[in-house]
Amino acid sequence: MKRKGIILAGGNGTRLYPSTVSVSKQLMPVYDKPMIYYPLSVLMSAGIQDILIITTEQDQAAFQHLLGDGLKLGINIEWTIQPSPDGIAQALILAEDFLNGAPCALILGDNLFFGSEFEATLEAVRGSNLGATIFGYHVNKPEAYGVVEFDNDGKVISIEEKPDNPKSKYAVTGLYLYDGKAPAYAKTIKPSGRGELEITTLNQIYLERGELTCALLGSGTSWLDTGTHRSLLQAAQFVSVMQERQGRRICCPEVIAFKQGWISSCDIKALAKPLKNSGYGEFLLKIANEAD
Ligand code: G1P
Repeated sequence: MKRKGIILAGGNGTRLYPSTVSVSKQLMPVYDKPMIYYPLSVLMSAGIQDILIITTEQDQAAFQHLLGDGLKLGINIEWTIQPSPDGIAQALILAEDFLNGAPCALILGDNLFFGSEFEATLEAVRGSNLGATIFGYHVNKPEAYGVVEFDNDGKVISIEEKPDNPKSKYAVTGLYLYDGKAPAYAKTIKPSGRGELEITTLNQIYLERGELTCALLGSGTSWLDTGTHRSLLQAAQFVSVMQERQGRRICCPEVIAFKQGWISSCDIKALAKPLKNSGYGEFLLKIANEAD
């Protein structure tokens, strides 16, 4: 079965208040495009065309205004509401009907991945559909994340959610690959101390069953999250610097759709038209013209 994608863009974004009182965090700009373009680009780069986007009830219409049914990007987008922010693992339960037994890639709406090495990592997404794969990334402050511990042979021995005393410097990033059993396992999870169905608990279930793999993302990959004012500003600066330096744009779904052969250069030109005043449209036109 072909892998499907899930983007979790729920939550109240309270760490970005008051900016996110009336606008969803995942619609906030990261420099020149809405935050959700970044995780959407990851799924599309991995060749995933069937995508479920989970939002709060109040924000769904705004997301739909931006992305619609996905047809203009050559993909199929379906929509579901997360009634209250009850944890990341709840996304798998909400996605059960959409997945219909298919393996999936779940990505958090505020995670930004970028880099040539990451492109290679995405090949893994096209690979095995068995068990679960998580991605570890060396960070300065692992206590803010799920933390993965390895034995001397590099085998995962534990995963802990936001531990006071992290057993390693490796954070679990917000991209997870699961086989078709994830919704059933997620349903067995009890809420944690903070009242959430923790994704870490789901990963622990796979670990206990000997069905969890952790791939490490090296320094050739940049992983940023954008949940606080500081990290959001840093992510925007990062995108701005890289784009200006390289003369390319990071995580443009239109360009990825074109490279995947899902839309034509003619389609890109049509998408560029309403964006022509922002520079984003000019960039799309350049890509389309180069291809013609
Ligand atoms: C969540 C997960 C955590 C993971 C992080 C990645 O944290 O619970 O395990 O490392 O996403 O962004 P939260 O967004 O709830 O702080």
